[in-house]
Amino acid sequence: MGKSIGILTAGGDSPGLNAAIRGIGKSAIRTHEMNVVGFKDGFRGLMQQRYIRLDGDALSGILTKGGTILGTSREKPHRMDVGGTVMDMRDSMVENFKALGLDALVCLGGGGTARNALRLSQRDMPVLTVPKTIDNDVYGTDQSFGFDTALNIASEAIDRLHSTAHSHHRIMVVEVMGHNAGWLALGSGLAGGGDVILIPEIPYEVESVADSIMGRKSAGSTFSIVVVSEGALSVPDTERRRQIQRRIDDGDDDPDPAAEMEAFADEQTTSTERLAEQLEKLTNLEARVTILGHVQRGGTPSPADRVLATRLGTSAAQLVADGVSGVMVAMRNDEVVPVPLEDVAGKRRAVPLDHPWIVSARSLGVSMGD
Ligand code: F6P
Repeated sequence: MGKSIGILTAGGDSPGLNAAIRGIGKSAIRTHEMNVVGFKDGFRGLMQQRYIRLDGDALSGILTKGGTILGTSREKPHRMDVGGTVMDMRDSMVENFKALGLDALVCLGGGGTARNALRLSQRDMPVLTVPKTIDNDVYGTDQSFGFDTALNIASEAIDRLHSTAHSHHRIMVVEVMGHNAGWLALGSGLAGGGDVILIPEIPYEVESVADSIMGRKSAGSTFSIVVVSEGALSVPDTERRRQIQRRIDDGDDDPDPAAEMEAFADEQTTSTERLAEQLEKLTNLEARVTILGHVQRGGTPSPADRVLATRLGTSAAQLVADGVSGVMVAMRNDEVVPVPLEDVAGKRRAVPLDHPWIVSARSLGVSMGD
């Protein structure tokens, strides 16, 4: 028998996780004659030695399933809640890893998981990551699986909002996930024919959005679709956040800027509703809000995500067989390449302001709110 590997899924779930687990597991067993185990619920399973053997049976029939058969969590190895106390559990994770006779740990996750994997690899654990997220914001890879599926779901929702917006002559404001990156809102807004697309990378002016809706009305279109990324901020809110951040960076602690930042983040959870109310006032048109939420992360992965997850997964198994670790298994120019975790951890892939999707949207006359 060859090497032994552990797999875990961490962070928010993403369509394609099971396809990736299957890709790693089947090629590890069939091509490299490895033993494979899967830890339950992210890094917590590694800490608690909760795992299942991933043999042919466990890996069968999961390619098209949404979610993750292993369960996931957002917990961090260096800040685990252990019976109500937050503790650094990295050493005990390394011990468990060694006790199981594992040669490598493959972590499927986004940017946060890359940071956590680096923390473990700095304790001499051979770790690899495979990028997944519907946000598409993992630095160092052209694509992460889950994004294509979420893009399909969000685009279909926007398509469906068109007919009701048109019938009632309303503004439909649709909030799309994406965390602090605008990929999903921009992609679905473009694919779904949004009239306004607001993304975190471009602070928006409510008046500018209202003007573009009134411009459409004057030209005979009595409805508008506003696609807003959950992380999009108005110009004044961007400035407020910048000021709080500056006080955090300067170590200015009276009043406590961390508490202010938390209050600011809480306030943002209703920003889409506030935007719709402001647009109603400024345009005199009725507005309705749709928050797509977790429906974007659920269900069966698209064929493109299955292929991507399978390619990344089988490549991860090959890299383990070759003795490579401390890397993220990235996709660049349609080629799978290992990228050192140090180069990606702590970075985020934002939408460049000159990205072709933004250029196309603007040339169609779509308002980006600026
Ligand atoms: O990272 C994926 C994501 O779906 C983000 O788009 C969103 O902000 C976040 O996770 C939601 O997290 P949770 O499922 O923990 O509420």
